[in-house]
Amino acid sequence: MRYLTFALGKGRLARKTLELFEQIGITCEEMKDKDSRKLIFTNEEQKIRFFLAKGPDVPTYVEYGTADIGIVGKDTIMEENKRNYEVLDLGFGKCRMCVCGPESAGELLKHHEMIKVATKYPRITKDYFYNVKNQTVDIIKLNGSIELAPIVGLADVIVDIVETGSTLKENGLHILEEVCPLSARMIVNQVSMRLEYERINKIIKDLKEKCDENSKA
Ligand code: PRP
Repeated sequence: MRYLTFALGKGRLARKTLELFEQIGITCEEMKDKDSRKLIFTNEEQKIRFFLAKGPDVPTYVEYGTADIGIVGKDTIMEENKRNYEVLDLGFGKCRMCVCGPESAGELLKHHEMIKVATKYPRITKDYFYNVKNQTVDIIKLNGSIELAPIVGLADVIVDIVETGSTLKENGLHILEEVCPLSARMIVNQVSMRLEYERINKIIKDLKEKCDENSKA
């Protein structure tokens, strides 16, 4: 039996994923050591391997077939736009992609003005403004602390993830429009899906059952 390889986004998502996988009998004791700097973990018995990658790189590992399966946020899937199958919503990591800014910027969104939009997600932002709203905007790519941009005058609004809303609140910003809901998803390499159909399909089925159970609890 060949190894089935999972690429997980480092951090909170990986921890939540492992908790869920344990519930369906896929375990990796080695990975529970929080202080470990290792990036590859193997369960020899189950012939399963885990990679810990940076979130935005997960769809790349899966597209090239280096990993068969990836667990990553819907935001990353949309932004990276790779040729993978998205097979399951895991129901955790729930948040929203939103257009945010000072209340006064709400007007700018109504009149199709040429505004400046700062974001870590230029593809999602372009798709939303150009194709959904038919508004031409100037997109400024940033790498983090996006909420800073409208406060210091770099941009009129931002497109960013809102989870609890506390970053917005503490910086005097508001949700102006919702782009889409987000959560953790499972993606599969297109060739692996055919070659390892039975094993992968069983995992999808087991995870789906657990996710449904967990959402009812
Ligand atoms: C994310 C996101 C927001 C914040 C939203 O940033 O970009 O800034 O979390 O969460 P909240 O609604 O619960 O406050 P992250 O912490 O990932 O860091 P970043 O600014 O470096 O992107």
